[in-house]
Amino acid sequence: MAFHKKTIRDINLSGKRVLLRADYNVPMEDGHITDDYRIKQSLPTIEYLLKQDCSVVICSHLGRPDGKVDKQFSLLPVARRLNKLLGRHVFFAHDCVGLEAQTAAEDLKPGQVLLLENLRFHAEEEANDKAFAEQLASLASIFVQDAFGVVHRAHASTDAITKFIPSAAGLLLEKEVDTITDVMENPKRPLVTIIGGAKISDKIEVLKKAIDIADFVAVGGAMANTFLLAENIDIGKSLAEKDDIPLAHEIIALARAKAKKQKFVFYLPQDGVVTNTFDKNAHTRIVDWDAHVIAEVESYPKSPPRSSMHINKDEMILDIGPFSGAFIAGGLQLASTVIWNGTMGVTETPSLNGPIGPFSQGTELIIEAMLGKFGSKPFSVLGGGDTAGYIQERGLTDSFNFVSTGGGASLELMCGKKLPGVEALEDKAS
Ligand code: 3PG
Repeated sequence: MAFHKKTIRDINLSGKRVLLRADYNVPMEDGHITDDYRIKQSLPTIEYLLKQDCSVVICSHLGRPDGKVDKQFSLLPVARRLNKLLGRHVFFAHDCVGLEAQTAAEDLKPGQVLLLENLRFHAEEEANDKAFAEQLASLASIFVQDAFGVVHRAHASTDAITKFIPSAAGLLLEKEVDTITDVMENPKRPLVTIIGGAKISDKIEVLKKAIDIADFVAVGGAMANTFLLAENIDIGKSLAEKDDIPLAHEIIALARAKAKKQKFVFYLPQDGVVTNTFDKNAHTRIVDWDAHVIAEVESYPKSPPRSSMHINKDEMILDIGPFSGAFIAGGLQLASTVIWNGTMGVTETPSLNGPIGPFSQGTELIIEAMLGKFGSKPFSVLGGGDTAGYIQERGLTDSFNFVSTGGGASLELMCGKKLPGVEALEDKAS
């Protein structure tokens, strides 16, 4: 279904002062931006507005400062980066409402850009407060929503604001919603879905959706440990959520039911990289356990028996093993489309030398498969903060067909949920 909200292409913006909501919630270390993907992705909308001679007032949140001013969450470094990326001066106001913001917005000339300080320095933002939204709205005559990463929240700058000035979607929001909706509703088959992450409870809806629509679902990351535990596989001291075991049973039952009716694979890792420390110098082993989980839910022939080893009590699984990586990579050779959310291991552990960490090999193998290293290259859609962050770090973002700027928002959209920040915008027909 095509995007049904008015976009900036549907309205006359010539010479107007626009309030643009962006998602500049970017990772920072000691005041430095470590990943500017979200800022880069906001540029086409800003450049479009500037071409229409608009003056552009941008607002965003950064982090979770809980309604209080907290300098470590200041957007000032973002203003500097935006300045560089746009190649023009970006003015900065030290508050998003009040006299300074009002005067700075009113003084803005066509073609100029102003970034406001963090919206979440005011508790009213997350409370979806009407009076606060009205103050924000008074800074411009049109509101443009382009903060895809936060439209799953009903906040003053995603919901209430649309009650005060005419609203439209920016180009990033439109592209995100169109691409993700299309790949979920109308994928070119076979469709492979790869889901990683820490907790099954965080991804339960997307796991169910994946089983519903995909031909092959592979699970990795720490959540796979909980599935293994549910299948009585010894996982040593690996991170697992005991409370999620009933959810794991529910998901495995759904997968088995589908596999009985049609050709379908639900794949849990059958080997792992184990060690007893997260340290980059860690001595690692490959442990391989019985493959009975996949053998029961898949409709492919059972893999040949292999020698099985045991994980020690003080060891934990920090990555999928080579056999699991190869199995998933093989599945990707048959895929026309892949949806990927969540890395396969502890990719944040840095390497001793070179770009690839000791627990990133599984993720690297499936990246190679997705990018066509073994022959076939499926259409790839990536979502989720850790996934996008990892491939940005590896400098591979442009190699995939689509990398969402959303974490929670892309998950909710994938599950078919309505996003309050999109729903609040004006319909195309109105
Ligand atoms: C994100 O990073 O997922 C968005 O910016 C939303 O942030 P939040 O989870 O703090 O609301």
